[in-house]
Amino acid sequence: MQKVLFVSDPHICLPGQKIIGLDPSARLTEVLVAATTAHPDAAALVLLGDLTHHGAPGEYAALARVLHKIRVPIIPMLGNHDRRDAFLDQFASAPQTESGHIQQWCDIGAHRIITMDSLDGPPYPDQHHAGFLCADRLAFLDHALNTRAGRHAIVCIHHPPFNTGVIGMDRIKLRNGAQVLDLLAQHGNLHLVCGHLHQTISGNAHGIPWTVFKSPCHQGVVELVNPTSGLSTNEPGAYGLGLLAPDGVIIHSVDVGTGAQIFNGYSAKH
Ligand SMILES: [Fe+2]
Repeated sequence: MQKVLFVSDPHICLPGQKIIGLDPSARLTEVLVAATTAHPDAAALVLLGDLTHHGAPGEYAALARVLHKIRVPIIPMLGNHDRRDAFLDQFASAPQTESGHIQQWCDIGAHRIITMDSLDGPPYPDQHHAGFLCADRLAFLDHALNTRAGRHAIVCIHHPPFNTGVIGMDRIKLRNGAQVLDLLAQHGNLHLVCGHLHQTISGNAHGIPWTVFKSPCHQGVVELVNPTSGLSTNEPGAYGLGLLAPDGVIIHSVDVGTGAQIFNGYSAKH
């Protein structure tokens, strides 16, 4: 089976800066090396947005230095922490739609991977981290699904269009999520993949199966009562692995680094 790798929310900072004591560039490097060493034959590696922490030019330059050695073709996406102009200054050859959004699709055998740009701006209001897919972006999505010639689709959107129960993050999901789920349900035969929460979560919304992936860096918290979106934990980083089966997709989440060693055998001993 062919494979697709997913890495979500690396939140690259300027050199020397850390998030809850973690170096985002070192963590992304560790996860990318693990993913591409285990799966050098992957057809693509989707970066699911929040590429940087502040959307600053120096952060995109730091990201480029990390990605430079990766041989698997990379498909970048943007999240609420990104800035489209600063991203394009560094990654000028990234595919753009006519409306200027960072979106594309690629066909891998019987599958079509569609990556969306849910960054709500410019302008970028302060403290506004929800996402949005405008009419131009929805038309792109509809066209990509209409022209796939029977292929199974994997639709990637940084902001989930559904609730997860993590109340602080549900408040900053995709603003027009119901509209997007309606469109996806009209097409069917697809799996929805998101980031934003820095947690491994799966579910089904409006008949659409979905998966959310962890980050290589700081992780989210299963907090169902406190409405803050700022909680994070230093669990191991992770990447996602999609196995492209003839009749659908199989999704794995793979932890990397301290706390995620592999042992051969598990018999009990003193
Ligand atoms: Fe994030």
